[in-house]
This record gives sequence, C-alpha cells and structure tokens, in this order.
Amino acid sequence: MASYSFKVNGKEVAVEAEPDMPILWVLRDLLDLTGTKYGCGVNTCGACTILINNRSVRACQTPVRACSGQDLTTIEGLGKDALHPIQEAWEKFSVPQCGYCQAGQMMAFAGLLSQVKKPTKDQVNSVMSQNLCRCGTYHRIEKAIDHVLSNLPA
Ligand code: FES
Ligand code: FES
Repeated sequence: MASYSFKVNGKEVAVEAEPDMPILWVLRDLLDLTGTKYGCGVNTCGACTILINNRSVRACQTPVRACSGQDLTTIEGLGKDALHPIQEAWEKFSVPQCGYCQAGQMMAFAGLLSQVKKPTKDQVNSVMSQNLCRCGTYHRIEKAIDHVLSNLPA
C-alpha cells in the first residue's frame, strides 16, 4: 500500500492503494464515483474512459501510481455546475438505451474536443469508433456529436 494524491473533478483527494490498482477501482470503490463503468477490463470497450489532464484514457488500464499529481475528470465533473453541452446534446437526442457505455462515450468525445477545437468527421470517427455500445446507439451518438459541433463558437 502507498499514498497517492491527485485532483478529481477539481478537488484534491488522497487515497491509500496498491500501486497497480487501476484508477477505475480507486474512483468507484474508494471515492464512490460510480459514473465511470467497468465493461471489458482489457482496453477494448471504452466504458471506463476518463480524462487525465484533459486527455481521454482508459481507467481500467491506468494504475493509480500513474495518477499521482495529475488532474482527473470523470463524468461527474464534466459539467461542473450545470450540464456540459455534450451532456445536453445526449439528453436532447435521447442517446442512451441501457446507458452503460454512455459516460465513456461522452468522455471520449470530451477528450477529443479538449485537444482539437473543431474536429473533422474523420477525427471524430477515429476516436469514437474505439468506444463500443452493445445497444447500438451509434446513430444517436452521431446526431448528438453533430449538434455539439454545429454549436461550437466560431
Ligand atoms: S473497461 Fe476499460 S476499456 Fe473496457
Ligand atoms: S446504451 Fe447500452 S451499451 Fe450503450
């Protein structure tokens, strides 16, 4: 066991954990932030996507030791005081079916937007095609993304 401190959704947190414990378990089991989901555990589905320093990462593949001193954002912190425009668009187009994959979908898109101000269709596809949805909500995800992109400030 060792102590690790980092920021989650703007707040400093400190945890005691085994160095190799995936940050997914730290978030869910130690910090009670259960919006981030466990899907495959092997870097395939993207259900566990969070942001570290505004870049999307797979929380099931990221050990807590790699998070020391970093700035993490989960779906709970995406919108800060109100819904984030991505969450509003997801709601507007009733994107979720079972909902299980959707936090990861939104965080993957948020990660892209924080790196590229106006991503092209190809850039969106190359990021979003890495997140799976067992319910097949891809067409609604696409509509919500198009809506966000068409409402970005010039
Ligand atoms: S749970 Fe992390 S990629 Fe599937
Ligand atoms: S909404 Fe059910 S897995 Fe995506």
